[in-house]
Amino acid sequence: MKNIDELRAQTLAEAGGQPVIQTPFQRYNSLGKEEQVAVQQVMESGVLSQFLGCWHEDFYGGSKVREFEADCCEFFGVKHAITVNSWTSGLIAAVGALDIEPGDEVIVSPWTMCASATAILQWNAIPVFADIDPLTFNIDPASVRANITEKTKAIMAVDIFGQSADMDALRAIADEFDLKIISDTAQAPGAFYKGKPASTLADIGGYSLNYHKHIHTGEGGVIVTNDDALAERMRLIRNHAEAVLPDREAMPINNMLGYNFRLGEIECAIGIEQLKKLPALVASRQHLAERLADGLRDLVGLTVPTVAEGNSHVYYMFPLLVDTTQTGCSKHELARALKAEGVELATVYQNLHLLPMYQQKIAYGHHGFPWTAEFARQSVSYDKGICPVAEEMNDTSYLGFGMCTFSLSDDDVDLIIEAFHKVWAHKVASRSA
Ligand SMILES: Cc1ncc(COP(=O)(O)O)c(C=O)c1O
Repeated sequence: MKNIDELRAQTLAEAGGQPVIQTPFQRYNSLGKEEQVAVQQVMESGVLSQFLGCWHEDFYGGSKVREFEADCCEFFGVKHAITVNSWTSGLIAAVGALDIEPGDEVIVSPWTMCASATAILQWNAIPVFADIDPLTFNIDPASVRANITEKTKAIMAVDIFGQSADMDALRAIADEFDLKIISDTAQAPGAFYKGKPASTLADIGGYSLNYHKHIHTGEGGVIVTNDDALAERMRLIRNHAEAVLPDREAMPINNMLGYNFRLGEIECAIGIEQLKKLPALVASRQHLAERLADGLRDLVGLTVPTVAEGNSHVYYMFPLLVDTTQTGCSKHELARALKAEGVELATVYQNLHLLPMYQQKIAYGHHGFPWTAEFARQSVSYDKGICPVAEEMNDTSYLGFGMCTFSLSDDDVDLIIEAFHKVWAHKVASRSA
């Protein structure tokens, strides 16, 4: 690493100097020969899907679906794994499987991908946004508690960026108020919470298998649960529930609106191979993230990711916090200079409550349904100010590096570190000098 005088002697790339990173990083690709062979075998079998949406031995899918689900049960240590054609579908099935009534409230983080909250609205239930913890970005149990009303039915805990939410604290609240917990672990397969795979401590959890995650099947998702009844309800919602209810007399019929959420044989064949690779892929990303954190830790006004006690972090994203009182310049200014050096960072993530849909309460039709319906509590607020921590981060302090976007080497990480130090040497050291 060059020293500060050497870095200062260079011209910033945004001012016409040589960028630190001159060759774009290689795009992340977790697929290999194993997946190609697996796909070829399915192609040769001629069976790309084997689901039937009626009560039949094929109701639960074909051989690759069942094999992948069995592998997921073993890997994640759960009784049931249910594949779905996206994790969005998995979230919709999860909310529907709970005994949810229109107007019931589900407390969710605003700092998540939009599907965490729309899965709630799909059942005419109401998302209530609780604030996030300022270091882990996960839902803050104290804010969850403060948002509980007589309508609250469940908590949606999102394991954002790659580490689990505080499950012990959330479970204590859930037990006290008789709530269910859904874990949206889209971004954190392979992470652990107190020795258990993230997501498996919730009543229902699961993972995304879309193309920008650690492992993927193009599109796809896996639901996990240890609850037999919930598992069966989700399998029904996955595959046209209403059509098979006459054959399933014991099943309560509420929320048995079915969909086609089925994942195909090719995707499951790929998933079987990808799952075998997950521990090694996660270990390598953890190594790179720790190297990056070590290289950035001493920069003035920059906080590297915090891993909560009991957690392992799989670094889907590598979140950073900028203290502008120390840097003397905004995160946008820093991000612009870093981009010119070849390091592209996200300057915002999400504040879902500020999306037009929530601000205007327009979802189904034009008249505010379901918020204005008689079954809903009319006073749910999405005003700016309800989640001050999440709002401040989006506005002022958060910067994120997409660790899962690239296949990085140690040398690549060292270049990223050098780019940060160069930018800091010019923009931060100069101001604090
Ligand atoms: C936190 C979170 N929840 C839900 C989803 C939706 O998953 P999918 O794209 O598989 O539908 C994503 C996808 O990026 C996500 O990051």
